[in-house]
Amino acid sequence: MPKTDVLVLGSGIAGLTYALKIAECFPKQKIVILTKGDESESNTKYAQGGIATVIDTLDDSYEKHISDTLKAGDGLCDPKVVQMVVEEGPKRLYELINWGINFDKSKLGTYDLGLEGGHSEHRILHFKDITGYEIERKLIIKIKQQQNITLLTSHFAVDLITEHQLKRPRSKQKLTCYGAYVFNQKTQEIVTYNAKTILLATGGIGQVYRNTTNPIIATGDGIAMAYRAKAQVSNMEFVQFHPTALAHQFSHGRSFLISEAVRGLGAILKNEHGEAFMHKYDVRKELASRDIVSRAIDNELKISGADFVYLDCTAISKKDFKQHFPNIYAQCIEIGIDINKQMIPVTPAAHYLCGGIDVDINGCTSIQHLFACGECAHTGLHGANRLASNSLLEALVFAHRCFIETKKNIETIKNKTSIPDWDGKNTFETKERILITHNRKELQSIMSDYVGIIRTHERLHRASKRLNVLFEETEDLYQKSKLSTSLFELRNMISTAYLIVEQSMKRVENKGGFYNSDLI
Ligand code: FAD
Ligand code: SIN
Repeated sequence: MPKTDVLVLGSGIAGLTYALKIAECFPKQKIVILTKGDESESNTKYAQGGIATVIDTLDDSYEKHISDTLKAGDGLCDPKVVQMVVEEGPKRLYELINWGINFDKSKLGTYDLGLEGGHSEHRILHFKDITGYEIERKLIIKIKQQQNITLLTSHFAVDLITEHQLKRPRSKQKLTCYGAYVFNQKTQEIVTYNAKTILLATGGIGQVYRNTTNPIIATGDGIAMAYRAKAQVSNMEFVQFHPTALAHQFSHGRSFLISEAVRGLGAILKNEHGEAFMHKYDVRKELASRDIVSRAIDNELKISGADFVYLDCTAISKKDFKQHFPNIYAQCIEIGIDINKQMIPVTPAAHYLCGGIDVDINGCTSIQHLFACGECAHTGLHGANRLASNSLLEALVFAHRCFIETKKNIETIKNKTSIPDWDGKNTFETKERILITHNRKELQSIMSDYVGIIRTHERLHRASKRLNVLFEETEDLYQKSKLSTSLFELRNMISTAYLIVEQSMKRVENKGGFYNSDLI
């Protein structure tokens, strides 16, 4: 049974920055980072727009960033958390810079700050349109230089270990986390990881929808694990749909994103007749917050019956476009679109989960020694709708808070002396693995058709009924089948979808990204 001091589940910005800080501060502590795919596959890797932070104190201020965040969150943000994240943001950002991560500068040598929806000032630090790639790549390099960090790929965390597995009756005391059962995809074995402190940094849930900007690893595993372990999970109804995913066949299960920063540089949304429409929905037009722009597009598509609207970038000079968005430019060229002559077909896609595992202002979950940060956590920053580019910022700030909290007792807590091995009996080979693929697709259809941008009571009830059937079929399959990542993921996706539907049904007021047309 592998024993470690700190176990980090996930190798995106949240997991990596936390691990680095612990490793640098405590050279004698052992840190294991487990990740289910290759080392860099994550939502982080695909981040385009950048990180929102107040760097320019001439035009911008903390007050403005706080106010924009609160406005986007539509009354459901926790103001204390918003203030803390905004004010600690610049320090965390400079740490990234000191670790060697690049952000674009203007000719004057100051940071080139982008503008995105819902922001009243230019405040997005970015590296061209591949900010996430730059961050992920550099962090992995740093991680590999640390003697006391082991990063293991193809390791899929299946379940957290708490008193439940120790077969202790649950007392009134807080549960404690002692590690995780992990599926080593190379050896096809379940390994028991015993740890003093565990961080969930497992990212998003986009794959529960058919059309998403998230890569295939985003299946809500951490949230489902935490939920099974009886941690509190909330605000799951607030799934954010990004207005402008490229309406073109998916590459590896995800839609290519056309960054909001493109609208920040002047691109206009148009309908199939080439008419701009955002002025009908919000005075900020293309730069209204994401919930508003996505609903506006959804409405236009319902009126016209079309599959997509267009993003018109023809007024932006080719030089400017290519300089700011070389990756988007190249992707458009690859599918035959010259952005100077043709408009880009775009459609909203599931992008980000504003809710998740409840944590306090220090990243502590409701389970002792279990932290969560990044997209899987619900911190109170985003409320009902996340402000653009506040996610990488949140991950950085909360990873640091988790580090500070871990620091307090990492040298005094002890590993649990005995932890039972996993008691899963699933060892038979099924002849019908196709059922897993079918059920995954069916789940994505249910969520896209009934639990999308506009919901109704009836659609939510339909989704709930169908999810119950899928749940029973999948549990049955789980009892009979050999262990497999796709089956673990399917179970987690069903739990995640169930939480989204159940929490949507409980919401009685439309807020931010949540919209039930029966509640108007
Ligand atoms: P991730 O980066 O998603 O990392 C999760 C990690 O957990 C991965 O390594 C994954 O393999 C691992 N994992 C998951 N489940 C398991 C398991 N069961 N066992 C082991 N490992 C597991 N935000 C911004 O602020 N600015 C932007 O410009 C921006 N652009 C975006 C563009 C795109 C296309 C997308 C998809 C998102 C964007 N976001 C942006 C959102 C932001 O990128 C994410 O919210 C953020 O990167 C999440 O970081 P994370 O570390 O929490 O999770
Ligand atoms: C984008 O570049 O539009 C994505 C930014 C974000 O998700 O915050």
